[in-house]
Amino acid sequence: MKKLLSIAKENIKNSYSPYSHFPVSAVLELKNGELIKGINVENASFGLANCAERSALFTAYSLGYRKQDIKRILVYTDHDYFVSPCGACRQVMRELMEDDSEVILANNKDEMKVYHNIELLPFGFTEGDL
Ligand code: THU
Repeated sequence: MKKLLSIAKENIKNSYSPYSHFPVSAVLELKNGELIKGINVENASFGLANCAERSALFTAYSLGYRKQDIKRILVYTDHDYFVSPCGACRQVMRELMEDDSEVILANNKDEMKVYHNIELLPFGFTEGDL
């Protein structure tokens, strides 16, 4: 987890967040050991912002990886408190990662909290509801 944290810290400089000034960085670890990075990408049309978690997951899927290939995701913000994934990211993580995958929240005091994906969106809407 320390390696994920140090990569997330380094990668946060790539955040494109000129409107919120709230950079976020996420690192996905695949079961094959590969790491995939993501940052939040904002837009003058504010609603089009894409969160770091979704950037990392969409990159992984674009490369052909699927939920069974993903081990965990670490989300980092440069604050001394923990930032929790937004509702949209929880919905996307629920679909694109396995229920027991880890979602790790990390702050700039090198503290981490570990959750299982399913804990962040219990009774969520899934493909099974269609
Ligand atoms: N943001 C993320 O990247 N991940 C989250 O889980 C929460 C929010 C971004 C979106 C926006 O660019 C900025 O943080 C402020 O909301």
